[in-house]
Amino acid sequence: MRTTFNRLAIAVGLSLAGLSPALADTVKIGVVAPFSGPFAIYGTQFKNAMDVWEAQHGKTVAGHNLEFVFKDSGGPNPAAAKTATQELLIKDRVNYLAGYVFTPNALAIAPLIDQSHTPTVIFNAATSVINAKSKYFLRTSMTLPQVSAPLADWAYANGIKTVVTAVTDYGPGIDAQTAFAKEFESKGGKILDDIRMPIKTTDFGPFIQRAKQGKPNAIFSFIPAGPPAFSFVKAYTDNGLKAEGIKLIGTGDIDDETTLQGLGDSAIGIITSQHYSAAHESKMNQEFLAELHKLHPDAVANFASVGAYDGMHVLYEMIAAGGTDGAKAMKAVIGSSWESPRGPLTLDAKTRSVTQNMYIREIAKGPDGKLENKEIETIKNVPDVGYPAK
Ligand code: PHB
Repeated sequence: MRTTFNRLAIAVGLSLAGLSPALADTVKIGVVAPFSGPFAIYGTQFKNAMDVWEAQHGKTVAGHNLEFVFKDSGGPNPAAAKTATQELLIKDRVNYLAGYVFTPNALAIAPLIDQSHTPTVIFNAATSVINAKSKYFLRTSMTLPQVSAPLADWAYANGIKTVVTAVTDYGPGIDAQTAFAKEFESKGGKILDDIRMPIKTTDFGPFIQRAKQGKPNAIFSFIPAGPPAFSFVKAYTDNGLKAEGIKLIGTGDIDDETTLQGLGDSAIGIITSQHYSAAHESKMNQEFLAELHKLHPDAVANFASVGAYDGMHVLYEMIAAGGTDGAKAMKAVIGSSWESPRGPLTLDAKTRSVTQNMYIREIAKGPDGKLENKEIETIKNVPDVGYPAK
């Protein structure tokens, strides 16, 4: 009698809340990323890595069913990212948000997540200031200062004394340029020229020519990974700068694994700094790559893959601890540490970005004869050195 009454009460309660018992137990996660246009590769990299995570860890968390809702933002397009996020929050009523490749897209949604109190795991967007714009941002990628400052140290210690910087003219490019120059000059290095290139540029020849005029020891560059970065590195290799003794160094966005083979052997010797190389030697990376190739035989892993894979770690930990209670969920992960295919990570309590190893990599032939980003030096446990002081 009593049981029947309780069942009835539960059923009435649930129907009043407008929920079926099955739905009541579903946690929804909205993922905003480019799935079309020239940067669609990011969406693919995210999805493939999320598949690997699910294959290894299952599709439910602590009894909760998960439902992922994917929305296309195209490339750098704050209005599209905002509309997609609004739809996810209002129409789909997601409990968590994730993805976000481009800084302007992430910045555009900060007021929305502040209003809805939605924990948002950034898989890529990498300008330091983003996380200062909302306390609901958590980031599992990197920041440009975190990557660029260690490279400046490496460059100076390895005989590079003069540099021309050439970056894409928006948040992450400016972060990269500023952090590189500050660190390089603090060691005694000299910046000969600062070039900023429009985000829509496809012809990099004139910028390469300008950089060449200063006869620097090296050009330092950040360009968002994808077709523009590929064209820039091609312009460097095709214009004979290497033969003139001008090295190309940069953040790992310019030679990521999705375009690496297309650069050809003339790219051998280019030096980049990043938090991940598919050639990283660890058991966990081997397992990650094996599962990725099992599920998607033609896929390659790059920095976006680990951004999403570790983003899944954070989402799963949050859901296990808090279910749909965002505040409880965030409390459980902020300050936590775990092992990733890229190495050890800590989600720093102050910056809400990950503290992690930076790898200085050199493009070289791997054991299979293909080009790889060979790790030649590790700088351990680097925090987001660019996070705003206040
Ligand atoms: C960014 O807009 O923050 C961004 C985009 C692509 C990258 C890195 C950073 O490769």
